[in-house]
Amino acid sequence: MLIKIPRRNEPLASEITPREIALSRRGFLQGLAASSLAAAGWSAPAIATESSTRQRLPAQRNAKYSATDKPTAYADATTYNNFYEFGTDKGDPALYAGSLKPRPWTVRVDGEVKKPLTLDIDALLKLAPLEERLYRLRCVEGWSMAIPWIGFPLAELIRKVEPTGNAKYVEFTTLADRAQMPGVRSRVLEWPYTEGLRIDEANHPLTLLTLGMYGQVLPNQNGAPVRIIVPWKYGFKSAKSLVRIRFTEVQPRTSWNLAAPDEYGFYSNVNPEVDHPRWSQASERRIGEDGFFTKKRKTLMFNGYPEVASLYSGMDLRKFY
Ligand code: MTE
Repeated sequence: MLIKIPRRNEPLASEITPREIALSRRGFLQGLAASSLAAAGWSAPAIATESSTRQRLPAQRNAKYSATDKPTAYADATTYNNFYEFGTDKGDPALYAGSLKPRPWTVRVDGEVKKPLTLDIDALLKLAPLEERLYRLRCVEGWSMAIPWIGFPLAELIRKVEPTGNAKYVEFTTLADRAQMPGVRSRVLEWPYTEGLRIDEANHPLTLLTLGMYGQVLPNQNGAPVRIIVPWKYGFKSAKSLVRIRFTEVQPRTSWNLAAPDEYGFYSNVNPEVDHPRWSQASERRIGEDGFFTKKRKTLMFNGYPEVASLYSGMDLRKFY
């Protein structure tokens, strides 16, 4: 992604750091408390591991919407994250997201709807049957994972609030609390982190309002207590720790598009034929398969979800990137 642009064609260190180095560096950071956040007084709690105390979240596996990929190891999925509210290093969210309080928590659903709602997490958990779906997540930086998410189609919530005829888009706003999120003190992005979808994308059965992963509630670093997962789009569209879902007539502003409009468009569909201005999008590194001699995987159109193609018929996907 973008932190500051050094020189054209020169990816940032955080974008190219191999996982092994990121992992060893994380240990180094923990040991020496050497990161800028630590220097600012944020202490590093122990690295999260698959937790026997984390609340279990029973859900029926939905085979129709589950990829057959080998799931990424829990330890990788929870320690190699992008969550800039907790810092820009891949290891920062696991180190610092312990300060996030996922309960009590409410999500406001409003805007162009007939029945606006404020839901707490228990109400969200009961809103529709929970499903487990193994989705691929492809980050715009060129790495990917396969994660068993737990949630329900966002369409279920959309139905409840009854959008008006003016509702053309959905805006997602996430928490930006300086007291809980050390990264919000930095100006790396405009806070709060916002994202958006066209309403037909939001209503697509693949779009998952997500409350858990790996059989448990979401770990903080993965977007607790509730996030969106849009598996055919680059990972930054899948906003974490949502506090508001607003229906709008005009296309919402989004954090990454504001930060670098030439690099991150509103649609951001995974597309191996449209390169990022600073690197190719033709292939990806699957986290956990990144040995020195391991070949990269070819990136698939719409991240291997061809059923969404009809949402974009007649659109030039080079223009609407
Ligand atoms: N949501 C918020 N609020 N802040 C972020 O920095 N990063 C995005 C997305 N959602 C981000 C966010 C990016 S770039 C990616 S790749 C995914 O979260 C990573 O999700 P994961 O850490 O669960 O794999």
